[in-house]
Amino acid sequence: MSKMLLNLACEKNNSTMIDLSCKYLGLQLRNPVIVGSSGLTSTIANLKHIEALGAGAVVLKSIFEEQIRFESDKFLQSDHPEVKSWQDAFQGIVSKTEFYFDEAYNYLTSYAQEHTLKQYLSLISLAKEELKIPIIASINCNTQYDWQYFAKRIENAGADALELNIYILPSDFDKSGIEIEKTYFDIISEVQKYITIPVSVKTGYYFSSVAQTLLKLSETGIAGLTLFNRPYNPDIDIENLKVSASNMFSSETEYSHSLRWIALLSGRLKCDIAASTGVHNYETVVKQLLAGADAVHMVSVFYKHHFDIIPGIINGVETWMKNHNFSTIADYKGLLSGTKVNNPASYERVQFLRLFSSVE
Ligand SMILES: Cc1cc2nc3c(=O)[nH]c(=O)nc-3n(C[C@H](O)[C@H](O)[C@H](O)COP(=O)(O)O)c2cc1C
Repeated sequence: MSKMLLNLACEKNNSTMIDLSCKYLGLQLRNPVIVGSSGLTSTIANLKHIEALGAGAVVLKSIFEEQIRFESDKFLQSDHPEVKSWQDAFQGIVSKTEFYFDEAYNYLTSYAQEHTLKQYLSLISLAKEELKIPIIASINCNTQYDWQYFAKRIENAGADALELNIYILPSDFDKSGIEIEKTYFDIISEVQKYITIPVSVKTGYYFSSVAQTLLKLSETGIAGLTLFNRPYNPDIDIENLKVSASNMFSSETEYSHSLRWIALLSGRLKCDIAASTGVHNYETVVKQLLAGADAVHMVSVFYKHHFDIIPGIINGVETWMKNHNFSTIADYKGLLSGTKVNNPASYERVQFLRLFSSVE
């Protein structure tokens, strides 16, 4: 190509208006890069920083079922005036540790729950006052607890959407896959009865049939699925002969599980899909969008490199789009999903047959 033609091509490229905006869970996002749920999204200072650096949305740290139960137990053992007044009322009838029978127990645990919940609700309402990007609240739930009640309060506090983090490890030998999976459907249907904001579900991939279960979950009326959560994983310390915790943070090569499933499910699910786990750089953001993700959640990378890398990631996606003549996300989202590629089997292949035969 002559120098003049090359210049013209470059000019055309550079003048392409790039629009990174997208829709996710029915919300308008300025770009698909979402800071996912973690301790990093639990303070207003961090949230404002995340917004200032350009992220599309944020998922707040979850309120945990265990946290609520723990706070309730801690409260019941405390010298808080509310606890003391009930103890005084029952003094002489029962001992301090026995007095938690129905009425007192119910009152005090809901008092403690209320306290934990109020802290979370004030984070949501403050975030809504201070930020313009969508605020997605999060509940980590594995049983049918009072989630409807919590969800309603979260909606009233102003959250734009609610992510339910449901991750049940199917390790119970007495329960079938169907029994375990029923809990997911029960939680979703209970929560949805009480709120109108979009609900998404973040989950793992331990299902008897991943494709069918995720399809059925997508048919429950939820607005999105986040694939996948990265669970706490055990390890073994061979020097001290102890069970230990494996790496808390993902690595940049851990995105292939979600890439595979997003590619296979894209265009088939009845809700949006967000990629989670191992999204550490702009290249992986682009890959997940090409596979069919509507957005990506990023967490570990911000623990490793802090939020300052957000603009670089967004610029990277933009430059890649310019270089490939894509002006909107819709131009290439799902372009390499399982239903679009010539050889969808490449996403289903699990054996390295050819590779094994050629690698010495
Ligand atoms: C320190 C830490 C805390 C997390 N806390 C939450 C949480 O409160 N709620 C939640 O749904 N996920 C939580 N996650 C999971 C992340 O949101 C994310 O799904 C997972 O880390 C995989 O993404 P990544 O590879 O970008 O880290 C946490 C992850 C880390 C590393």
